[in-house]
Amino acid sequence: MNVNRRHLLTGSIGATAVALTASACASEDGGGDGDAKKVGIAMPTKTSERWILDGDNLKASFEDEGYEVTLQYANDEVDTQVSQIETMVSQGHDFLVIAAINNEALNGVLAQAKEQDTTVISYDRLILGTEDVDYYASFDNQQVGVLQGGYIVTALDLENAAGPFNIELFAGSLDDNNTKYFFGGAMEQLQPYIDEGKLVVVSGQTEMEQVATERWDGALAQSRMDDILSTHYGSKKVDAVLSPFDGISRGVIASLESAGYTLEDLPVVTGQDAEVESLQYIIDGRQTSTVFKDTRDLAAVTVDMVVAVANGDKPEVNDTETYDNGVKVVPAMLLEPVSVDITNYQEVVVDSGYVDASKLEQ
Ligand code: GAL
Repeated sequence: MNVNRRHLLTGSIGATAVALTASACASEDGGGDGDAKKVGIAMPTKTSERWILDGDNLKASFEDEGYEVTLQYANDEVDTQVSQIETMVSQGHDFLVIAAINNEALNGVLAQAKEQDTTVISYDRLILGTEDVDYYASFDNQQVGVLQGGYIVTALDLENAAGPFNIELFAGSLDDNNTKYFFGGAMEQLQPYIDEGKLVVVSGQTEMEQVATERWDGALAQSRMDDILSTHYGSKKVDAVLSPFDGISRGVIASLESAGYTLEDLPVVTGQDAEVESLQYIIDGRQTSTVFKDTRDLAAVTVDMVVAVANGDKPEVNDTETYDNGVKVVPAMLLEPVSVDITNYQEVVVDSGYVDASKLEQ
């Protein structure tokens, strides 16, 4: 995919230049009203590193284009996010870029946004149940799950090994539309082996609702894993854990380690987001894999969408079928996720400049 990567994270020099050029740019960027266009960015939480990177990349990229940017985080509180967006609407933002905390909580505030012709982009997570969302910028979420489940299939060599192997399953937050894609994609890979008896979910917890993790909270995952180990395992060993997100992976690993697992016998544990802490776990042999989603590219396609709309053009999309939000199919631009483990993290995540090598101890 030909993503036009902008100069991202240009820091204070970029910001100062923007302050000087914003109003001069306004007529060129399609504003036509003499003022810089305003973009409001609503991110869910700062507790996960990925959203900090997303917010920083978006802000820097929009400012490079001469936009005025409001960036807010809502501490994973639904009401806080709704009121932050309400404020952005009342301040007359022309564009909203939203990574929703609860995908069904925004109908009211988005209706207000539409009344004043604001363009709404659903960022990474699809907003459900409303006509008032214009575009979706994300990754191929089903493929994220396929990579996670497929990683376990390959790591345990399920095609050839006799097994049986013990596995536990974790899913993300049920109020995040991505959860069902991640879990669905992974189970598409794992279910045949569960049916065959080669993979055994010892806890018996296989339904998405049973294995979900509210707000993707690692501490909740840790305590669920504690319960599973103490109730179901006895002298049995866990061979693999399907985890949809690095924060959950680290919670699961903390549980396993406090139950006595060591580098010698920790199971295969998947993840997502290539967070620095989890990359370090991968280098140290504690977490097995993650799924890298380049948030620089996601920011770039989001900015491209906004610039296109501002210029009166149609943004480029590559999927007009998959993401039905219950009211409409939202046109989407989907990027490709990449599976990362000890064999390719250097090339994919470090050499590409996503993570600075100095943050990782070899
Ligand atoms: C999902 C997102 C994942 C992960 C997770 C927890 O919506 O697609 O990449 O970040 O939230 O934050």
